Parts: sequence; C-alpha cells; structure tokens
Amino acid sequence: MHRQALRMSPAITQQVRHRLTNTITRPFFASSIRFQSTQTRQGTPAGATMTASAATRVSNRIKHDHEELREYYNNIKNAQRDDDKAKWQNQFVWELARHSVAEEIVVYPAMEKHIPNGVVMAEKDRSEHQQVKEKLYEFQSMTPADPTFLPTIDSLWGSLSQHIQEEEQDDLPALEKVIDADASGALARSFDRTKHFVPTRSHPSAPDRPPYETAVGMMATPLDKLRDMFRRFPEDK
Ligand SMILES: [Fe+2]
Ligand SMILES: [Fe+2]
Repeated sequence: MHRQALRMSPAITQQVRHRLTNTITRPFFASSIRFQSTQTRQGTPAGATMTASAATRVSNRIKHDHEELREYYNNIKNAQRDDDKAKWQNQFVWELARHSVAEEIVVYPAMEKHIPNGVVMAEKDRSEHQQVKEKLYEFQSMTPADPTFLPTIDSLWGSLSQHIQEEEQDDLPALEKVIDADASGALARSFDRTKHFVPTRSHPSAPDRPPYETAVGMMATPLDKLRDMFRRFPEDK
C-alpha cells in the first residue's frame, strides 16, 4: 500500500478516534496484545505458576463462551428491529470466530498431546469447525432484511450446538481427566490471551492447526480489526 493511501484527513482521523474511544472498544485490543508460545510440556503448559480453582479451569472458560454464544443467538432471533439484529449478528460473528480459532490453537493441540485418542478427537472437532466456519462466512455478510438471514443462523446454530454438546460432554471432560488443575488453569489463560489477537471474522480457507493457523490468523488480524472499527455492536456488552 502507498504511503499516500495511509494518510487521513483531520476530519477522518477525528472520526476514527471517536469510533475507537466511543463506539467499538471490544474488538480492538492492540494495547493488550501479548504473544506467547502455546507449546506445552506433558501436564505442565508454559506459564503454569499458580493453582487453578474450578472457575479457572479451561473447560469452564470454554463453557462460559458457549453460554454467551447461545445468548447472542437468542438475541439475534428475538430482536425486534433489524438494527438490533445486525448488532447481535456482529457480536455473534466476532465471538464465534475468535473462540473457534483459540480452541484450534490452544485446546485441540493439548487434547492431541495429553489424551490417548486425542488426535482422532481433535480431527473430528476441526472438521466440525470447518462446517461451522463456512456457514459463518456466509452469515457474516448478510443483512437482517435478507430472507435467508434467519434460516442461515438457524442452520449454523444447529451444527454449532451439536458440536458444543460434544465438546462439553466428551472432549473437555476427557482433557480435564488427564491434566492437573495448574495445567488446566494455564490453558485457560493461554486461551484468553489467544482470543485477543486471532481473527474476528470467519476465514474458512485458513489452515486450522499450528503453526499455520497462528501465522495466517496473525496476518488476517489487522484487517479484521480495522473492519471492526466500522461495525456496530450492542451497547451493553
Ligand atoms: Fe469447538
Ligand atoms: Fe467451543
């Protein structure tokens, strides 16, 4: 890109600053980005320095995200105005995109490493993510006035809720069973940090495992963040 193209008029600069400070603060995490290795040693992920309570175990962290996604889905369905539907749509896309990629970077490699049949389990999860990402990719560009808007989110939620149920009933309990509380807490913290710099929109063609996922995710991130500045989100979140 030419330097010329990066220059902004004072009016535009002011508009961008206004949006950064007043309109959309959640998806813009530049100041809090921290990079860390997601490689783990057997039972002791990097950074495991304190005892994790039940609340900070990685499975609880992930279940919390799942509950939020369910809430956002219901809000899309129940919103009366198209404008509100669009805001919850943005919230849903943003949360699901980064939740999925953070699982692929942090949680699935840990399953592969620690669970005896973890490779098969992670493969199944990646393939389910792929189906969901393709639907999310379609959904993220739709407007609520589009007659396929609700059928698309319903179809997406059908696949996603099935996947969530499998993660909560089978995969996460299997992982928690073979790692201790410290390791689980460190994975939870790594999961949270990773969510801060992964893409905020669906990129179904991106590779879905480290190190490629990480590299492609990082490259897609600045563009996503810039687009996010002009997307609108519910006020109370
Ligand atoms: Fe998942
Ligand atoms: Fe999940």
